[in-house]
Amino acid sequence: PARLVVLVSGSGSNLQALLDASADPGYGAEIVAVGADRGGILGLERAEKAGLPTFVVKVRDHADRAAWDRALTEAVAAYRPDLVVSAGFMKILGPAFLGRYEGRTVNTHPALLPSFPGAYGVRDALAYGAKVTGCTVHFVDSGVDTGPIIAQGVVAVEDDDEADGGDALHERIKTVERNLLVEIVGRLAREGYRIEGRKVRFGS
Ligand code: GAR
Repeated sequence: PARLVVLVSGSGSNLQALLDASADPGYGAEIVAVGADRGGILGLERAEKAGLPTFVVKVRDHADRAAWDRALTEAVAAYRPDLVVSAGFMKILGPAFLGRYEGRTVNTHPALLPSFPGAYGVRDALAYGAKVTGCTVHFVDSGVDTGPIIAQGVVAVEDDDEADGGDALHERIKTVERNLLVEIVGRLAREGYRIEGRKVRFGS
């Protein structure tokens, strides 16, 4: 199976979906480690519960972003991943990381890119007045959520979504998102893929 390192910063519900899917040997990928940029998060707890090695690389433990970027790259590389999955990892991956893992790093974003990139995709779509939003699974490049799109899922915005600041909308997005992420990571692992410009094609 393909070796996955998953990077998280929060609750890790997408990580959990990947953990559940990869329990089936037919899935084609196995999570070999889970990394984070902060401690004390549910995502790390889920990994530990699953018996997986974890690592935390904090920006504030390093002299600058470049040093953090190199340390994160080394921590990930120690597990020799075929694919890295950024699943709610709330940091921009730097040049050292991308020098090694561009074209092998997948991110999931809670909006329909290229609309509403960045840290507040759900809130920004709601504030803009979008009637549909969703999620995007894409390869990471050096921009913010600008890399080649692999797949998207659509979620309707409801009239009362404003009431809770987007929490219910985000939960509906996450339901679609985790299924899409599991499907796409499995296909990348089982079928292979090529990135041709902005287009991602499955198969070898
Ligand atoms: C997911 O909805 C993911 O798309 C989003 O954070 C959530 C993490 O949930 N990521 C971003 O907003 C990245 N800019 P999880 O920790 O429960 O998987």
